[in-house]
Amino acid sequence: MLMGILGMVGDYDEARSVVSRLMAALPTGSCLALYDGTDTVPDYVRAMQGHNSGNTATPYTPRSPEQIAGFFEGLDVLDPGVVQVPLWRPEPALGEPPSVPCWGGVGRKR
Ligand SMILES: C[S@@+](CC[C@H](N)C(=O)[O-])C[C@H]1O[C@@H](n2cnc3c(N)ncnc32)[C@H](O)[C@@H]1O
Repeated sequence: MLMGILGMVGDYDEARSVVSRLMAALPTGSCLALYDGTDTVPDYVRAMQGHNSGNTATPYTPRSPEQIAGFFEGLDVLDPGVVQVPLWRPEPALGEPPSVPCWGGVGRKR
């Protein structure tokens, strides 16, 4: 589970490498569950820019949904795919899912 943390690895290739190394150590059938902040909502991007320009030890890089999907390359992505987090198998009883700048999914190692 890599939940809301890869944005703290600023370099995308390095973040991909972290995922690859972790998955390489796991047996076939293991699952990666991952979400991260995305650049899909300008207010959120501005908030992160403000956070990053302060005195923080944990700068955060929102990524595109396509980049989030890239973390699952080589895995079998379970339905409904890499989506906004509230749209991943929502509970109908909870009503209309909110729109959030967080995308993720679950992928199974072949
Ligand atoms: C966006 S939050 C996600 C929290 C949780 N995984 C979730 O999905 O709700 C990022 C988390 O990473 C933690 N964090 C940041 N830098 C860290 C570090 N160097 N070592 C351990 N945790 C850290 C923060 O305290 C925060 O709880």
